[in-house]
Amino acid sequence: MKEIKLEKGITLRPFSKEDKNGYAEVNNDPLTKKMFTSVPADEAELDAEIEEKIGKAKAGVSKTLTILVNGEYAGGVVLEFENWDPKNDVGRVHVWIHPKFRNKGIATKALQWIVGHGFKIGFKRIYAQHKTINLAVAKINKKLGFVLEREMVQGDVKKLRWYKDNPMPAKTKIKF
Ligand SMILES: CC(C)(COP(=O)(O)OP(=O)(O)OC[C@H]1O[C@@H](n2cnc3c(N)ncnc32)[C@H](O)[C@@H]1OP(=O)(O)O)[C@@H](O)C(=O)NCCC(=O)NCCS
Repeated sequence: MKEIKLEKGITLRPFSKEDKNGYAEVNNDPLTKKMFTSVPADEAELDAEIEEKIGKAKAGVSKTLTILVNGEYAGGVVLEFENWDPKNDVGRVHVWIHPKFRNKGIATKALQWIVGHGFKIGFKRIYAQHKTINLAVAKINKKLGFVLEREMVQGDVKKLRWYKDNPMPAKTKIKF
């Protein structure tokens, strides 16, 4: 996958080690810490997480794309097989935006693109999940046509699980 132009100045490309600083800034941000289940506790954990993302992309079970705004790190969007199982025809998306670039519609656009891409390569259904308190993501999911499946409790955290079905399910074997 090469660079994808979402619109003027906004591009997506595969996540790489050069995104470390921007990704670390997102993880150190208080809103990210509140909304993510966990963030790396130190640099060693951050490096391990970066290696894991790159490894999963190489294994073809998950694809993390970096969002760039005028060449600057602005966040990330992920499409993966549910439970990283390539036998699945069900996918899952995640998103985060660097604090500097929030509330400009970037997460909405990046998710819209990756969901469309997921359907094109053959996913029958795509799930999105977030803490119930994360009203911004709930708003985005609704706007993108996701259907609320249920609220669930993981530990003591309430989460909402949404899905969107492929209007034209492909018969091809899914390959990122
Ligand atoms: C959630 C997040 C990805 C949104 O990114 P973004 O680029 O700012 O999102 P967008 O601008 O595309 O859309 C956000 C929408 O939520 C709304 N919104 C933002 N904060 C809100 C809040 N606290 N309550 C209700 N709505 C809110 C915005 O007004 C916007 O709606 P609009 O387009 O109708 O105006 C970003 O805030 C983030 O990275 N948060 C921390 C990490 C995170 O929560 N990731 C998701 C984990 S599942």
